[in-house]
Amino acid sequence: MMKNDLSVFNEYESEVRSYVRGFPTVFHQAKGYKLWDLDGKEYVDFFSGAGALNYGHNDDNMKEKLLSYIQEDGVTHSLDMATKAKGEFIDAFQNIILKPRNMDYKIMFPGPTGANSVESALKLARKVTGRTNIVSFTNGFHGMTIGALSVTGNKFKRNGAGMPLSNTSVLPYDKFLKESDNSVEYIENFLDNGGSGLDKPAAFIVETVQGEGGLNAASSEWLRSIEKICRERDIKLILDDVQAGVGRTGTFFSFEPAGIKPDFICLSKSIGGNGSPLAITLVAPEYDKFAPGEHNGTFRGNNFAFVTGTEALNYWKDDRLEKNVQEKSERIASFLDDMIKKHPEMKGVRKGRGFMQGIMSPIEDLSDNIAGRCFEHGLIMETAGADDEVFKLFPPITIDDEGLERGLSILQQAIEEVTAESNLVAN
Ligand SMILES: Cc1ncc(COP(=O)(O)O)c(C=O)c1O
Repeated sequence: MMKNDLSVFNEYESEVRSYVRGFPTVFHQAKGYKLWDLDGKEYVDFFSGAGALNYGHNDDNMKEKLLSYIQEDGVTHSLDMATKAKGEFIDAFQNIILKPRNMDYKIMFPGPTGANSVESALKLARKVTGRTNIVSFTNGFHGMTIGALSVTGNKFKRNGAGMPLSNTSVLPYDKFLKESDNSVEYIENFLDNGGSGLDKPAAFIVETVQGEGGLNAASSEWLRSIEKICRERDIKLILDDVQAGVGRTGTFFSFEPAGIKPDFICLSKSIGGNGSPLAITLVAPEYDKFAPGEHNGTFRGNNFAFVTGTEALNYWKDDRLEKNVQEKSERIASFLDDMIKKHPEMKGVRKGRGFMQGIMSPIEDLSDNIAGRCFEHGLIMETAGADDEVFKLFPPITIDDEGLERGLSILQQAIEEVTAESNLVAN
């Protein structure tokens, strides 16, 4: 058996590797909210594969379905040919998710990643409007391909493109300008004033909670204003629910409380259930205008993900999971508020909602140091924001009380230690 030794990664893997630097151990097994490394050390997972493991690791029912599918030589790869596994996924998605919500969308399989879904929505919005410009929002994050990067705010990531990122314009997200300003008037002025220099966009692309951008949560009111602005000007609305969707905020789609109807919805990460790559783009039927094969890709038929993704949808047949997220979100919020009160020296601000909450601290490296200390004590957690200024709690949405409390107590210990060692002063 391989030893718990990172030398093979350090020596042969590209410098671009990143998570292994924050969590420097060799992982081997995982179940539910727990991970184990090769030394047998146990970690509580407050990272959830950046949202690809909302249901935790190796869910018993998903595992059983996948094992029997493999056992019976079920088709693995099929591009977009029809397979039993794909048919069952589409059927379950229609009946468990779309129909009960009165949502009428075509399901497009754009390739297996979130960025693939974003690219397909950007292309389609441009095709149906004949316009090229797309409006994105400050601190938005939509993926690493050139199209997705062009609507992403992060300077460091944008620089990686190595070319100008064009045909996009950026406008301020809810409360980006200042806490008391939701930017709606500003956005309307830019769209309507002939001197603003803003070309009429094909679409707006927006997240309801900016996962990578620092857990900025838009209000429902702001989201409704954005929808109205789009409708009044014949601009399409792309809702990127790649990170905030599939239950992360307490409802299957993160925009459900706002009651809006996007034209395109991007989903990936946990849609495959157990972390297998899968993405879908939901398209309002009137904009389902790609000719057959006009948007293509070899890996649009991941049948293993269809099998586990179908099983995962059973969680949405009743409201137990939704209730679990909603109740535990309150516990997370009160824990974070308590930490902010007990440690004013962090100058912390609670961010986000649901199971995507955290604390923003303006103190340089504090959030990174807290996440690093958590790792040492057996809790996996990452940071977010343009300067990694937010430490981000992302537990599986299926986590039980025991798991949540274990993670929170490790986090509390890390906060206490790091703030004490940093000799910070409250003012
Ligand atoms: C909101 C959002 N959109 C798109 C993406 C890109 O997804 P992927 O990394 O699967 O390409 C991400 C990834 O974190 C994301 O958070």
